[in-house]
Amino acid sequence: MRKHPQLVEMLPEAILRHGPRRFMDYLAQEKSFDAEHHTETCSLVQKTVYPKGLRNLEHGSGYQAAFTDVIVNSLDKVMHHNKSLQKQSSRLRFVDIGSGKGKALIIAHSYPFETIVGIEYNQDLCGIACRNLSITKCSRAELFCKDVFEYDGFGDDTVYFAFNPFDKQLTEKVAKTVGCYGNVYFIYNNPSYKEVFGGWQLVDRTVGYCPNREVDIYYRQASP
Ligand SMILES: C[S@@+](CC[C@H](N)C(=O)[O-])C[C@H]1O[C@@H](n2cnc3c(N)ncnc32)[C@H](O)[C@@H]1O
Repeated sequence: MRKHPQLVEMLPEAILRHGPRRFMDYLAQEKSFDAEHHTETCSLVQKTVYPKGLRNLEHGSGYQAAFTDVIVNSLDKVMHHNKSLQKQSSRLRFVDIGSGKGKALIIAHSYPFETIVGIEYNQDLCGIACRNLSITKCSRAELFCKDVFEYDGFGDDTVYFAFNPFDKQLTEKVAKTVGCYGNVYFIYNNPSYKEVFGGWQLVDRTVGYCPNREVDIYYRQASP
């Protein structure tokens, strides 16, 4: 037990506040990913310890890794939808908006994406992500250690993943920016601001016992 101080801390909080189900998810969806891949993705990083002066800090969330099966099931659904399209794209890119310690990038690496991109503005998290990507030999993944609004690589044929990284104002801005392009998927985990995707097609909605299990998948068609 001394090897897992976080486990000891989490136990009373998870069981008392969220119940045994949330705790089981922590073990099966967060802790076991790291045990299997020899990575460090599962410990939380609160915004209070983020470097001061980050642009948009007041609009963003802290770090928490998405559940493994949420990422996997969402990517399976996107691949399935893309295959069903008449003009399916064989050149899809994956972009994690607010990529944290790189967990979604590692999972995306086993899918046939042409490129895999992570955008994260917290340098400390980028450093950890870099280590995790190296340990897992994710050679196709590229990290951009910058604010998402300083990234200039948005384009067509892209699958975005966002685990509730920011408030409504920035979510709306991101949806507008990436929605200017065609054949774009937006996997929105813990979708707090669904209303900003009004002009998008809802491909799939998963509801769950807690917000981290909820996922909306939106799609924007290719321009004719
Ligand atoms: C809830 S975490 C999700 C991490 C990762 N996507 C995952 O599922 O493992 C949200 C991440 O978004 C990052 N973030 C928030 N606002 C950002 C911004 N404006 N630009 C880049 N990253 C941002 C945070 O630092 C945090 O790491």
